[in-house]
Amino acid sequence: MKDLKFYMQDSIKNHYALGAYNFVNMEMLKGICQGAKISKSPFLASVSEGALEYMGENFVLPIFNSAKKEFPEIPFFLHLDHGKSFEICKKAIDLGFNSVMIDGSSLPFEENIALTKKVVDYAHKKNVFVEAELGVLAGIEDNVKSDKNIFTNPLKAKEFVEKTNCDSLAVAIGTSHGAYKFKGKSTLRFDILKEIEEKLPNFPLVLHGASSVPQKYVEIINNYGGKIEGAVGVDEKLLQTASTEHNIYKINTDTDLRLAYFATLRKHLAENPQNFDLRKFNQVAIKEIANFVADKNANVFNSANKI
Ligand code: G3H
Ligand code: 13P
Ligand code: ZN
Repeated sequence: MKDLKFYMQDSIKNHYALGAYNFVNMEMLKGICQGAKISKSPFLASVSEGALEYMGENFVLPIFNSAKKEFPEIPFFLHLDHGKSFEICKKAIDLGFNSVMIDGSSLPFEENIALTKKVVDYAHKKNVFVEAELGVLAGIEDNVKSDKNIFTNPLKAKEFVEKTNCDSLAVAIGTSHGAYKFKGKSTLRFDILKEIEEKLPNFPLVLHGASSVPQKYVEIINNYGGKIEGAVGVDEKLLQTASTEHNIYKINTDTDLRLAYFATLRKHLAENPQNFDLRKFNQVAIKEIANFVADKNANVFNSANKI
């Protein structure tokens, strides 16, 4: 089976991106895997610090390894999302993660370099890949909240990669975390991305905060007792451009999966008030997540049939 290193380059060469889907329980991971099986796509299964704490370190690897056994034909990799310290990255590496993100984006440049390099030195000894971040995304990242975007500086990106030897870099070009990304029409700074690519040819880049916030889920949630008016995501056409015309190798999606899960759940509970068997609504949610992921892989990330 091809490894993550292969896909980091293949995705750039063959114009697609790997979805990096966050999960917090077995049901979400099952849905993501079923979706990837339909589209025949490689992907990353992401676990945030909060998700690691929620599931517990003794559960995460067994859940992931069980999924590997259940879906042996699909290449997928376990990734720590937004690790904020050396200690949490070390913990994930020691647990057996394939890839970790050290997010020093809120630190001064030199401190971000020093922290990232420390993680890289440890991770590479254990054949684990390291994603770093330069620039700041608006919105809420686990424990870090920022009110505005600070776009990635292309010159600094080159210096950062050279000094840290990280394997991939998350860039800030206008996306943000969560369900409220834009006031009006969504736009991304592809001009900045292009400059980064010129300075770092063929280097794997990562797009965070890339949920498209499907309005069908927003409507269902609002119609069935939720309250998320005004939720807006990134236009899928922009994500398609990022996947197929740029060196974005990995696209992070968390919010959309939460929306898919909750839309299904709220509707099912409202329409079946007599039900108190959680398998019933979880089954529908798993199917919805699977369909969402398969569609995203095939029609937006262009990762169908790339295994
Ligand atoms: O980028 C942040 C992810 O959406 C993780 O969110 O920390 O609430 O699990 P979380
Ligand atoms: P969204 O909130 O847009 O899904 O972003 C997820 C993310 O970047 C996880 O790291
Ligand atoms: Zn993120």
